Amino acid sequence: MSHLASVISGNGGLQAVRVQAPAGAGLVYLHGAHVAQWIPTGADEVLWLSAKSQWTPDKPIRGGVPICFPWFGPRQGDPSAPAHGFARLKQWTLESTAPGPDGAGVVSLRLDADDDTRRWWPHEFSLRLRVAFGATLDMRLELENRGTSSLQAEQALHTYFAVGDVRQVAIHGLDGVTYIDKTDAMKEKLQQGPIRITAETDRVYTRTAAAVTIEDPSWTGTHAQGRRILIARENSADAVVWNPWIAKAKAMPDFGDDEWPGMLCVETCNVKDQAVRLNPGEARALTARIHLERL
Ligand code: BG6
Repeated sequence: MSHLASVISGNGGLQAVRVQAPAGAGLVYLHGAHVAQWIPTGADEVLWLSAKSQWTPDKPIRGGVPICFPWFGPRQGDPSAPAHGFARLKQWTLESTAPGPDGAGVVSLRLDADDDTRRWWPHEFSLRLRVAFGATLDMRLELENRGTSSLQAEQALHTYFAVGDVRQVAIHGLDGVTYIDKTDAMKEKLQQGPIRITAETDRVYTRTAAAVTIEDPSWTGTHAQGRRILIARENSADAVVWNPWIAKAKAMPDFGDDEWPGMLCVETCNVKDQAVRLNPGEARALTARIHLERL
């Protein structure tokens, strides 16, 4: 363990790695390899975490960065399967902590196939999350096919961002991109101009590698009034934009009724027909690189 990281007992007694590096601080739970906090030095917290999150091994954490794998949303044809896959419910193994470039602190965690995962998904695999907490939050999720047949998997870094008031936010970068509207019978629509959140929003922007920017003039923190969050993606063909709005927030037991204005998910993913396909021995990494700018 490097001196900038320590294993702590986090919420609910769940084990987590706390990083305190020159360029940034962060927290990642071994439960789900779930990043729960990221504070670049001299800035405010960037991620959102629900006060109603349930901190137990059989539930995903609400907020931060859940890892969705190997399916996204409900599993087709199997309503009893865990939503967004099993990765966010498994205890991952801590591989290493180390100083990273530019004053960051880096944590590597790993999940391998076991009897439990094979019950849901009959593949041998290894999944590694390498997360660097610094001025940038750099998350790299590498999937390796360790079996003898090809595999196909959906995956997402389901990032929850803290915003001042989601109704005042503009999301740039997806102009002209086709999306599937999950709130309107999965209809395909074309994005025109920046995205504004004015109702329940649950959209899969497809076949786009574009960087996404959340412009948030309503942010009021200790260090900034107004901010911009920039999300650059690699090997990510899709981006999901989600805010539950009023009724859905009320319906979720682990989400406060009044919390929805303060959060926005912009997710780095490969879903539906963009699911990653790997032959035996192949590996590929999905990457999200996030940083802040002042307005
Ligand atoms: C989003 C999905 O990514 O995650 C939504 O597009 C879903 O449909 C949301 O409601 C939250 O999912 P969960 O399983 O964490 O409640």
